[in-house]
Amino acid sequence: MEKFGAVLHSPEYEGKEKHVPVIKAPATAKANEAFEVTVVVGDETPHPNTIAHHIKWIQVFAKLESGMVVHVGTFDLGPTYAEPRVTFPVVLKESATLYALEYCNIHGVWEYSLDVKVE
Ligand SMILES: [Fe+2]
Repeated sequence: MEKFGAVLHSPEYEGKEKHVPVIKAPATAKANEAFEVTVVVGDETPHPNTIAHHIKWIQVFAKLESGMVVHVGTFDLGPTYAEPRVTFPVVLKESATLYALEYCNIHGVWEYSLDVKVE
């Protein structure tokens, strides 16, 4: 059985169009206090945003230090009306790796991750 991870595109795969869902978050956060997370697709070079070619959704998960994987948020985007950039508050009780996924209707699913240390 082929694993889904095998079809995910990582930042190293990037071509001239920018698909990587870059996570912007502080390197450290306080336990149980909200901090701001932004996920942006096309941070350096804008991705097309037309009916024919667009970013359809962004999803965020967290792998907690204790090993549990939790869903943090799903953002469903309307092509041409919404740019693929979302900012939302996140609350963690323990250190975690944040994972962002995004889906381009032409170029597939892309991933990115970032560690946040909780003190
Ligand atoms: Fe694309």
